[in-house]
This record gives sequence, structure tokens and C-alpha cells, in this order.
Amino acid sequence: MPGPLAERLAERIRREGPITFDRFVEAALYDPDGGFFARGGGAGRSGADFVTSPEVGPLFGVLVARALDRWWEALGRPDPYLVVEAGAGRGRLAREVLRADPACATALRYVLVERSPDLRAAQRALLTVERFEDALGPLTGGDEEAGAVPGMGPIVTALDDLPGLAVDGGVVLANELLDDLPFEVVERRGGGWVEVRVGLEPGGGFGEVLVPAPESLTAEADALVAGLEVPDGARLPVQRGVAEWVARCGHLLHRGYLVVLDYADTVPSLLARGQDGWLRTYRAQQRGGGPLDDPGSQDVTADVVLEALRRAARESGFSVAEEVSQARWLAGLGLDELVEEGRAVWRERAHLGDLEAIAARSRASEADALTDPGGLGAHVALVLTKGLARRS
Ligand SMILES: C[S@@+](CC[C@H](N)C(=O)[O-])C[C@H]1O[C@@H](n2cnc3c(N)ncnc32)[C@H](O)[C@@H]1O
Repeated sequence: MPGPLAERLAERIRREGPITFDRFVEAALYDPDGGFFARGGGAGRSGADFVTSPEVGPLFGVLVARALDRWWEALGRPDPYLVVEAGAGRGRLAREVLRADPACATALRYVLVERSPDLRAAQRALLTVERFEDALGPLTGGDEEAGAVPGMGPIVTALDDLPGLAVDGGVVLANELLDDLPFEVVERRGGGWVEVRVGLEPGGGFGEVLVPAPESLTAEADALVAGLEVPDGARLPVQRGVAEWVARCGHLLHRGYLVVLDYADTVPSLLARGQDGWLRTYRAQQRGGGPLDDPGSQDVTADVVLEALRRAARESGFSVAEEVSQARWLAGLGLDELVEEGRAVWRERAHLGDLEAIAARSRASEADALTDPGGLGAHVALVLTKGLARRS
């Protein structure tokens, strides 16, 4: 059993019996002394464990900057304009948004929310990060006078958790966060459910232990499959952490946009794909090992269950403004024009071979990666609104 985290988990299981799947994932990803993200694992290009849309290149940030401008307009140009990026990693998206110089920049207060202290430290290599009190004083009810000064942005700040504010006119954006929130796993048995827990194999590794699902978990699983025929042996993730996170966003945002970009799928499709389809691990830009292998050494993720996400959103007062693939969402923000523009710049400057020419040429390959139907392009873009007209 490699690694001290694995040793500690094994010790806990020997003491307490098999642990719930979400506790195992919580430790594997976020244990402060050995969890995958606590060890600085994550998104990037060279040496990274997986490549997310912001890490493909600057293009994604340029398009998100356009979206931020649209939402700013729809919200009546609030100043300050609070944009919370949850699960911000090392801040690549924020940097590209700022470089794109959106119209909302002068009003922008960009809050990077990232749980991993290593990744929060890494943000400072890409961005000038101000103290939270300095960045958001007016919003936290501090200095009302300071709150009256418009045009102070952009200001970037960083937190380890969602801010305890009530925002009237802001955005919460999460790219590939929800698939990394710990989840439980249930399996259909005789018309009911068993819960998949994690115990120890006789040989010493971690193994699954099936126990009768407690009532609250059964109720969650039943709600997911209401009206569906579910064969024995079928499995689903139950993502109570996602529902809690959405509820917290509901408290944070009194009026504004909650935008989730992630691997997500419907229950019938998850049932058809099976656990090997929706539960994945990543390490060094490749699929990792089994989910219980060497905790802390790999990312462990599950597709977000769309029905549960929509329900949690509804219960927190959000309406669905848009639910499309990432490829379509980016097209709606003008991806094709930007690629065409890049091609034109390349044609003009290819003979110079300077940075501008090369950046322009790479737009087309970035666009391909961001819209790949077998990869990032198939992510779901769910745009939720609260306190405003249904479509804007
Ligand atoms: C898959 S990474 C995505 C990073 C970045 N959004 C990107 O697209 O490159 C998920 C990130 O969410 C962070 N995270 C997980 N749970 C979190 C939470 N409750 N609050 C804030 N960050 C969290 C992880 O530490 C990790 O950096």
C-alpha cells in the first residue's frame, strides 16, 4: 500500500470499518498532507495531470471575457462587478480574461476561490492578487465611501472558500469544479439500493464493500431514477456535495449568473455508460488507475448528474437560461470569427514569424481542442440566472 496517506486511510478503516466513498475521495483529492490537489496536482500543459479549457491557451479566456461583458450588460453594468471563479486552480482563466481587456474591466472584482494552498500560491505567479478586504471592502459592508468610487477595477483577490457575501449583480463561474467534489456511489439491488463503501482487501489494498444504503442516500438515489427501469447491478454517483455547493451559491447570489462548465450527463445516459464510463481518474495527462488505487496520486472525478444539478439550482431560486455543449456555447460567443481573425493575422504576418503571428495561428488548434466532440467540446455549459428575466 504505497504512500503515507494510504497508510492513514487504512488505519482509519481498521479502526472504524469501511468508509463512505465520498470520504475516500475527499481524502484522495484534498487531504492536506497527501491529497492530489493539496500536493499541487492539477491542470496545465507540460507536467500537468490533465488539460482543462483555460489551459489549452488564451482563446477560452477571451471568450469567457465576452460572456462576462454580456452578463455585465444584462445586470445593468454594476460597479463593482463581482465575478467569483470557483475552483480557480492556478488562475490561468483569470489571467486570460484580464489580458482580453473586457469592457467590464474597470468595474471588475475577480475573486479566485481555490481550496488548495499550493494552487493559491501558484496564482501569484500569474496575477497580482490583492487582499480580500482591500478588493471587496465596499461589498463586505466596510467602507461605504470607498464603495461609492466607480472605475477602480480590475482587482483580483483570492480565497479558499466562497465569500460570505450577498451579491446583487454578480457572477459565479466554475470550470471543472463540480466533477471534483466528493461523491457517494450506489448500486441497484432487488429494486432497492446498496451503498459502495471502501474497505481493505485481505492482501492490503483498498476494495469495495457493499452495504445496505441508509435511508437518506436511498431517497437521493430514488429521486434520480424516478420513472426509470433500472437493472440490478447498475450504479450511479450521488453528489450531495454538488447540491450543497449550489445552495451556497444561491445564498451568495441574490441577483446574477451561476455558470457551470463541466463533464455532465443525464441519468439514463449514465446508467447506459456504466461506472467505468462516468467515474474516471487522471494522472500525467492520461487516464489513471482504478479509483481506489494509491489515493493522492491521481484525480478521481465523476460526471455531474444533470437532473440533480438542475434540481439543486431550482431549489436555490435559479432558472436555466442556457444548457448547451461547450462547443455551442463558445460558438455563440463568437469563436468562429476569432479563429477567422487569427487566420487573417497569420496570413499577414507569417513571413515575420513573430509572437503575434504564432499566437494567431494557434487559435485554430485551440478552437479544435475546445470544441472537440470527444473531449472538451462535449462538456455541458449550464447558465443559470437568479433575480432577472429568464433569457438575456
Ligand atoms: C479540475 S480542477 C479545475 C481547475 C480550473 N478551474 C481549470 O479549469 O483549470 C478543480 C479545482 O477545484 C479545486 N476545488 C475543489 N473543491 C473546491 C472547493 N470546494 N472550493 C474551491 N476550490 C475547490 C481543486 O483544488 C482544483 O484546483
